[in-house]
Amino acid sequence: MKITFLGHATTLVEAGGKTVVIDPFLTHNPSASLKAEEVKADAVLLTHGHGDHISDALQIAKQNDCPIIAMVELANHFQSLGAKTHGLNLGGSYQFEFGRVKLTLAFHSSGIDLEDGSVKYAGEPSGILLTMGGKTFYHAGDTALFGDMKLIGEMHEIDVAALPIGDNFTMGPEDAAVAASWIKAGVTFPIHYNTFPVIQQDPERFVKLLEEKQLRGQVLQPGQSLEV
Ligand code: NI
Ligand code: MN
Repeated sequence: MKITFLGHATTLVEAGGKTVVIDPFLTHNPSASLKAEEVKADAVLLTHGHGDHISDALQIAKQNDCPIIAMVELANHFQSLGAKTHGLNLGGSYQFEFGRVKLTLAFHSSGIDLEDGSVKYAGEPSGILLTMGGKTFYHAGDTALFGDMKLIGEMHEIDVAALPIGDNFTMGPEDAAVAASWIKAGVTFPIHYNTFPVIQQDPERFVKLLEEKQLRGQVLQPGQSLEV
């Protein structure tokens, strides 16, 4: 499994000749390493309805003629805009051609900001457990630290985890390091930081916090990959 960080929470996952993109936010993301029109994918996976996770989902799904996979209400929103979709709900998993997707809990909010200024209900926010090519990647989405992350770590053999460290909207580095100690991934990389001034963080300090807990962390610059 090859995982490429594209900036913010956007992640490209490849295995067995298939590619999925999680939370595509590229066009309006100053840290993005790829243009939305350059993304080739077999599926678009979304953790929740906030703009910094979904803004390029429709374009990428349409240009690749591939489905958007997300919480049912969020999937239905994109279906109403003409996308192919597959809805899941928390704790549910489904075997797709490219691999298995399971939605986990995430403690956050999830509304879609519409152009008329109103907010559309997008269901509960989620994390994503993605198994492809015999490896499992946990993308935590946007979330607070919560105790059931222990259960996620106990029930799943997780090879790679992506955890938000930006603080303000999600866990900060200290809480994310505690989360990592419960999830026990082979390697953890930080996401959702430095995109905006309020989520400024030093990712190397997060890696040091992990090392103090005997955990492996790695900072990925936008465009960088790791392979497991
Ligand atoms: Ni969010
Ligand atoms: Mn976010």
